[in-house]
Amino acid sequence: MPAVPTVLVVDDEPGLREVLDITLKRQGFEVVTVGGRRRAVEAIEARSTPFPLVITDLVMPDGSGMDVLEAARARTEETQVIVITAHSTVEVALEAMRQGAYDFVTKPFSPREMAELAHKAIEKSTIVTENRELRQQLKSIAPTTAGELFGSDESMRAVSTLVEKAATTRSTVLITGESGTGKERTSRLLHDLSERRGGPFCVINCGALPANLMESELFGHTKGSFTGATSDAIGLFRQADGGSLLLDEVGELPLTLQVKLLRVLQEKKVRPVGSATEVPVDVRVIAATNLDVEAAVESGGFRTDLYYRLNVIRIELPPLRDRPRDVRRLAGKMAARFASEFDKDAVALSSEALRALECYPFPGNIRELENIMERAVALSAGGKIGLEDLPDPVLEAANVPKRTSPVTELPENGVELDTVLEQVERQLIEQALERTSGVRKAAAELLGISFRSLRYRLSKLGVDDDTPADSSPPG
Ligand SMILES: Nc1ncnc2c1ncn2[C@@H]1O[C@H](COP(=O)(O)OP(=O)(O)OP(=O)(O)O)[C@@H](O)[C@H]1O
Ligand SMILES: [Mg+2]
Repeated sequence: MPAVPTVLVVDDEPGLREVLDITLKRQGFEVVTVGGRRRAVEAIEARSTPFPLVITDLVMPDGSGMDVLEAARARTEETQVIVITAHSTVEVALEAMRQGAYDFVTKPFSPREMAELAHKAIEKSTIVTENRELRQQLKSIAPTTAGELFGSDESMRAVSTLVEKAATTRSTVLITGESGTGKERTSRLLHDLSERRGGPFCVINCGALPANLMESELFGHTKGSFTGATSDAIGLFRQADGGSLLLDEVGELPLTLQVKLLRVLQEKKVRPVGSATEVPVDVRVIAATNLDVEAAVESGGFRTDLYYRLNVIRIELPPLRDRPRDVRRLAGKMAARFASEFDKDAVALSSEALRALECYPFPGNIRELENIMERAVALSAGGKIGLEDLPDPVLEAANVPKRTSPVTELPENGVELDTVLEQVERQLIEQALERTSGVRKAAAELLGISFRSLRYRLSKLGVDDDTPADSSPPG
């Protein structure tokens, strides 16, 4: 909005237009006056910066002020509309309020009344504008710093510093790491932390399409350049102009396209399929892969020259199993996130569950942890995630005996029957006590044994006997 707000005055009576013109100018506003509905609608639609305020008469020879209101509301919610009405048309003025008019004044009105109202309406318009701008800024502001995303593990601190540094350059970045380590998320963060954050962020999976389709997907094509090219397409490089483009799974890019990509990176221009001219593009390229690129270069599957072009800044994301502190931190954050997604009260991880997670090697890295936590939160009861909410592979890795499947088939080398039976006994008793919140009488009932028998077994197994028996223990 310009420094001085401009008010549009719409009235067929020249006298009233003049009064309003003088009144509003005295208040320090700029004023544009028009004599009817048609000119008003034109002015509203033509103006590059919307009027913060439109003051319009309701009944005019060439149409209704309601149309002016409608045009203003259609243009932007920032424009406030005050309607001027005669006593005979107050009903219409009320309808205008329902349609979103800011207020109405009945003729005759004093200049002071109108001036005060105009100030309030413009204030409202300013607030609406500021809110919209604020929302836009929030969208484009980096949501987080790299440190916040990566946590405090030693290996990740180096990564976050590198991401923050890389964000200030327009160099090509190569992100490597096992599947699910957060390559895409990291590239998004890189974009959000960079000056390009207001521009587009585009992603393409380089292995998803055959070479010819991939070429037009990346660089665009002209109408008729191949069967099925029924119209021009600008391609991802141009879509990402002013922003960043993630070439995901770059290791799978067909060799013929590797040459073309290299040219684009060098020349900063793309040539759409079927076109003779090149178009300049301003794109930060981020490449990601979970393949061993060096091995691919060695074996000839990836061009050396392209590798050097992409590998200007290299970010290697370590596997989750190498960052145990991150497991804790991420698991906690994910538990909170899923709890709120599932409309559950806060969910905490029990210390055994945390320990089990820390033992697990996470072949699927953060994505796998995310799935495990989603399942665990869904299964959890009473605000706690326990071992029983974790999947078998995690329990196995942590050497937690599976509680629900005792040995029922005689293993090759036989078993220690007493040990196995004792394990089964212990597991079932522990579960029964857990389910009954430690009330032994109820646990005994669940197990189909007497209270005395349970007490005997507990002492035999060496389980602490400090659980409450019951509110009314049997004799
Ligand atoms: N630091 C993090 N905090 C929370 N969630 C994360 C973090 N990093 C990654 N994730 C989540 O883990 C999942 C996998 O991340 P992402 O897709 O970025 O991995 P990737 O390395 O690109 O995986 P792939 O190699 O399979 O394509 C996503 O759901 C992502 O939101
Ligand atoms: Mg990915």
